Amino acid sequence: MRTVAHISDLHFGREDRKIAEGLLLDLKAHTPSLIVVSGDLTQRAKHDEFIAAKNYFDRFSHPSLIVPGNHDIPLYNVVNRFIRPLDRYKRYITDNLNPTFVDEEIAVVGINTARSLTLKNGAISFDQLRHIEAKFHTFSSNLFKVLVVHHQFVPPPDNSAPALIRRAADVVRRIELCGVNLVLAGHTHKSYTADLKQHYQTGHSILVAHAGTAISKRGRGEPNGYNLISLDKSHVHISMRTWDGHSFVEAQSTSYHKIQSHWHKEHDRARLGYSPDSGNYSPV
Ligand SMILES: [Fe+2]
Ligand SMILES: [Fe+2]
Repeated sequence: MRTVAHISDLHFGREDRKIAEGLLLDLKAHTPSLIVVSGDLTQRAKHDEFIAAKNYFDRFSHPSLIVPGNHDIPLYNVVNRFIRPLDRYKRYITDNLNPTFVDEEIAVVGINTARSLTLKNGAISFDQLRHIEAKFHTFSSNLFKVLVVHHQFVPPPDNSAPALIRRAADVVRRIELCGVNLVLAGHTHKSYTADLKQHYQTGHSILVAHAGTAISKRGRGEPNGYNLISLDKSHVHISMRTWDGHSFVEAQSTSYHKIQSHWHKEHDRARLGYSPDSGNYSPV
């Protein structure tokens, strides 16, 4: 059994410092094997925002795997946006845009889906697809395989961000062949889970978990939150932990168990009184 903390869309520059401190405490308390950060570290890809993000990540007590999001590419400086889109990300965070984490139970591959041209919509190039395939094929089939991206393969339940990763059907078909069990993503600032087999023609289940915004003031009607995911080869438990004004608490949880190559939902539990507002979406 492994525990992965999945946080997203921190948007330093628009962060709430009290919540940011609360998140560090909650992460430390749960001792995850890995902290995944699925993009949008900053609000406008400014130097001071990246420095704040880096200083924050330096305080993690556990290993982390980070990918960029569209907000980590400069928006208004056209030269930087097109010529040096992720220079600041690489300078302050990591120059590895395809990070990997592997241990005896899980193999996690991150990929950059942010693009200069279509800032809000993500893509995975053919080269990146080949990289994903090569990486996953080096790992034992006994490992639980996780792909980390910023953008979405499945829109949120309220369909408020319908644009998907470019050529999503082709990408899904190929990651299915890699044996990917779970995709972690952000971008929509909505927390939700899905099974790609209900949206694409796949022979296997591939679960998707989106995290909302962990610490920023861009909540889109949802409280700040993150996913704490326990997993092994036949079980996945996704606990959505949200900020209640004082600390992070479990607001909702979803469990799946695997029968042959399909994930079956065991339960979906919401904490009494919790009802995520799925309306009032504005573009991220
Ligand atoms: Fe975002
Ligand atoms: Fe985004």
